[in-house]
Amino acid sequence: MEVRVANVRKEFDRFPALHDVSLDIRSGELIALLGPSGSGKTTLLRLIAGLEMPTRGKIFFGDTDASEKTVQERNIGFVFQHYALFRHMTILENISFGLKVRPRSSRPPAGEIRRRAMELLDLVQLSGLEKRYPNQLSGGQRQLRRARSRPRHRTRRAAARRTLRRPRRPSPP
Ligand SMILES: Nc1ncnc2c1ncn2[C@@H]1O[C@H](COP(=O)(O)OP(=O)(O)O)[C@@H](O)[C@H]1O
Ligand SMILES: [Mg+2]
Repeated sequence: MEVRVANVRKEFDRFPALHDVSLDIRSGELIALLGPSGSGKTTLLRLIAGLEMPTRGKIFFGDTDASEKTVQERNIGFVFQHYALFRHMTILENISFGLKVRPRSSRPPAGEIRRRAMELLDLVQLSGLEKRYPNQLSGGQRQLRRARSRPRHRTRRAAARRTLRRPRRPSPP
């Protein structure tokens, strides 16, 4: 799905955080937003996800104007810079959470949710730890998690955050 940011302006109390930003992201394209602290990277990602509304301009998903859509309707996956795990849930429950809280009409069956969560755990080489709680991950395993959640060569502050349309199934590169 193509994402198009068209002439977006975002003000916070008259302060312009984004000034006339336009950006085309093609379907399947992996992009990184780089810029100094305070340049508006997070604001742009929050606008695409629907966590903020633009002061001016529009955001399109394909041909659809997404500007008026809610966070739920946009169905955007968002990995926060300071990731948060639910302490009272196992690793598997944490990973399954996003699918479990979907409305019934778009929620996969329980077995399918489990299968996809296990597949993701395998992808980040944490298979076998699904029953552990977050505080039971070793330093190394947490490091692996962090390494996976942001580019290796950037500092924490400058790390580009990624917003990806959650793919229905893994597709070849
Ligand atoms: N909720 C907010 N209220 C007021 N100002 C904000 C708010 N969020 C961000 N800003 C300001 O908007 C600018 C861009 O912030 P941000 O998008 O977080 O930058 P970046 O992610 O590139 O570091 C900064 O000057 C920041 O202080
Ligand atoms: Mg930021």
